[in-house]
Amino acid sequence: MSAAQTEKARALVARFGSGPEGEFAPSGMRVGKIAEQYGTPFYLYSSEMITERIGRVREALGTEVSYSVKANPSLAIGQLVAAVPGAGAEVASSGELAVALAAGFAPVDIIFAGPGKTDDELGRLVDTGIFADNVESLNEIERLAGIARAKGRRVGVGLRINPTNQLMGSQMRMGGTVSQFGIDQAELATAVERVLAHPELILRGVHVYTATQVFEPEPLLDHCRNILDIALRTADLAGEPLQMVDFGGGFGVPYFDKLVEFDLERFGAGFRELLAAHRADPRLAGCRFIFELGRYLVADAGIYVTRVVDVKEARGKTFVVTDGGMNHHLTATGNMGQVFRKSFPLLNLSRMDGEQQESITVAGPLCTPLDSFGSDLTLTTPKVGDLIGVFYSGAYGYSASNLAFLSHPTPAEVLLHEGEARLLRAAGAVEAVLMGQIPLT
Ligand SMILES: Cc1ncc(COP(=O)(O)O)c(C=O)c1O
Repeated sequence: MSAAQTEKARALVARFGSGPEGEFAPSGMRVGKIAEQYGTPFYLYSSEMITERIGRVREALGTEVSYSVKANPSLAIGQLVAAVPGAGAEVASSGELAVALAAGFAPVDIIFAGPGKTDDELGRLVDTGIFADNVESLNEIERLAGIARAKGRRVGVGLRINPTNQLMGSQMRMGGTVSQFGIDQAELATAVERVLAHPELILRGVHVYTATQVFEPEPLLDHCRNILDIALRTADLAGEPLQMVDFGGGFGVPYFDKLVEFDLERFGAGFRELLAAHRADPRLAGCRFIFELGRYLVADAGIYVTRVVDVKEARGKTFVVTDGGMNHHLTATGNMGQVFRKSFPLLNLSRMDGEQQESITVAGPLCTPLDSFGSDLTLTTPKVGDLIGVFYSGAYGYSASNLAFLSHPTPAEVLLHEGEARLLRAAGAVEAVLMGQIPLT
């Protein structure tokens, strides 16, 4: 791990309201005490950082912001977002829809995306009366219309379009190339025609989400310009103004070495200018402009905290083995879509200053070499019992992990909120592994 990665972790320590020395103590609460109270490993989130980030995004973009619940479906985090004016939810399953509703999002502020919605899911979103089902195929338009008709209800529809032009400068693409996501731009006219043919469907507008981990503002602005062109063409085809343009998002989080913060203010300035040039267009009169963001809103507000169980030397290398690993945090072990494994910023939270040791491997407890947070790390010399913090862990952590693998207890989730460390979800019990299992006799 480079010095730059350590610097990123230290900058986050300060944002969590902790001093740089000794034990990590966000807002004066010692991490060791939180660990004693709720057990290790656990996820630690900061409500202040989440609320602050959403406010900054809203101000920079001047649009609505839909929280992609998949990034972190914690109910309390949903509640924090729902309390921000102009914030909505983007959900991708009935479970996420349930979280969004329980968190207090109004149905009119919920949109639903995902290429494999079942009839049951379509039925639920129709019943709930959400703002838009962002349909991903011509078939889905027909299925949705049939389900709404059978229920005697109308439902809003966004067309998720896979644009012909690729968004450049991203790290992971989900469109612009041939994929299972969205309706090909070449089929836009057919899609509009199909929606308008069904009186139960209300054409809300268009949705484009093609990539994540985008860092470069200029290509992203070009992409937004292209989305607006698609939107205007859609309005022309429909012969009516659009009610929604959803620009997707995919703003990057600088997890790895050589990645730097996405320049939100620079992108925002360009975007506001772009939007200002379109606002007066009658085809967009009364239109809701939306960015849907997951990791950018919550990743930096979370730390995965795991305790050192063993430290050993082998052939000149130091191996630090912790009580949680890929089973709780698949993303940080590089097992979720990384081609070359790179490490997140890590710190020894029990002793943040002191003698630094290089060439450390931090491995989780699983019986697979895949279970490692990094193999060339520099940390304050770890001792058994120390707490290791994996930063940028607020998104795609708990819910994106293979929690049942090797049957360890699941981690707790704790929120730093109004000067307290509030338990959001208790750690699983050892016996929980048997829950729901039906014995033969
Ligand atoms: C349709 C859609 N919207 C939003 C997101 C959130 O992406 P990110 O967390 O990179 O902001 C995703 C991620 O897969 C997605 O598929």
